[in-house]
Amino acid sequence: MKAYLTRRYKFSASHRLHSDSMSDEENRSVYGKCNNPHGHGHNYTLEVTVAGQVEQKTGMICNLVDLDSFVQKNVVQHFDHENLNVLADFSATVPTTENLCIEVYNILEEGFHHASVEKVRMEETMLNSFEYAGGRELRT
Ligand code: NI
Repeated sequence: MKAYLTRRYKFSASHRLHSDSMSDEENRSVYGKCNNPHGHGHNYTLEVTVAGQVEQKTGMICNLVDLDSFVQKNVVQHFDHENLNVLADFSATVPTTENLCIEVYNILEEGFHHASVEKVRMEETMLNSFEYAGGRELRT
């Protein structure tokens, strides 16, 4: 038996989409306005889904207090009001919301052990969202 728990969090951060492996012209052409040197901000909505057995004693997959304190301390406080481009998390990757999902997933996968991490979903705007559920093979 496997049950799922999804919890939402919010934080704000800025980024500039720019890849060192492309020329300035390619960057402008691929990323458009998102390549603007001054960057821009988003109010991200993060959804974390964890899975596990429902414990007989508590009737829960995991305690929300444990999930909240972990995500607040290791994800929300880590990224909130930061410039994603200068964080060590993105020293080798472009801080797209795809890669932000992967970073958040990896933080959870490494440090949160009260339930198994199933999926991370990130709303960047009203019109787009991204999901990551592990198992990435880096495309080059
Ligand atoms: Ni953006």
